Amino acid sequence: MSEFEGLVAVVTGGASGIGLATARLLAARGATAVALDLDPRVDPPLHGIRADVTDDGSVRAAIDEVVERFGRLDVVVNNAGVGAQGDVTANPDDEWSRVLDVNVVGMARVARAALPHLRKSPSAAIVNTGSIAAWAGLPQRALYSASKGAVHALTLAMAADHVREGIRVNAVAPGTADTPWVGRLLDSAPDPVAERAALEARQPHGRLVSADEVAGAVAYLAGPLSGSTTGTVLAVDGGMHGL
Ligand code: NAI
Repeated sequence: MSEFEGLVAVVTGGASGIGLATARLLAARGATAVALDLDPRVDPPLHGIRADVTDDGSVRAAIDEVVERFGRLDVVVNNAGVGAQGDVTANPDDEWSRVLDVNVVGMARVARAALPHLRKSPSAAIVNTGSIAAWAGLPQRALYSASKGAVHALTLAMAADHVREGIRVNAVAPGTADTPWVGRLLDSAPDPVAERAALEARQPHGRLVSADEVAGAVAYLAGPLSGSTTGTVLAVDGGMHGL
């Protein structure tokens, strides 16, 4: 498949986990794929540019560099995110601000910088990484769930704002996915094997979601076969939500 031939895609958080799998898949399907990340080391054919989604100047410079080097921008995957644990009492205000700054405001910053370029593309699409945490009522994830609920709402609002400009905006809502992020969580658990088994059992299909499965959903929402789809959030969660 070369559905992204001639198109340029940026993936924030594209150097690890879901973002890396997405950048690789878009490149395999013909895109020039650029990982925007705090640590942008990626292997060819991917390109990496350093960007911090909490820093407006950094985001603007990175998007400008993409357009200068590759001539256009068609697809934005807003995927960079950080986690937070605990109930609503667990995190002080500055932690709420930090997590919301990365997970929500970061997406707005990237969109702000990218929209003037996306408006020139006949294939413009934005895909945001939400989470099943926004829907499932997970314990000990108050701040993280709130941030991802905001991502889902932002997706719908942006879809409404930009549909008549020909820019589609959708999101994916992964269940627990097998990425370095979850690896770090497991490593910090008292019994990583039992913790992994508990995470697997939480999903009706009995295993973690793979980063490639999420990437496949992102690529669908970024590509021409979803040309009539905007304002949706696609669950990739083994049936965790809705069964
Ligand atoms: P990961 O930790 O493997 O990768 C995240 C990437 O984002 C890293 O490369 C990191 O450097 C980058 N990043 C973090 N802060 C950044 C910033 N300020 N600016 C630019 N880049 C930054 O994580 P994973 O698991 O691949 O998660 C990716 C997205 O998927 C996140 O938005 C996360 O909330 C979401 N997600 C993950 C799930 C999981 O179980 N792994 C489940 C549901 C959603």
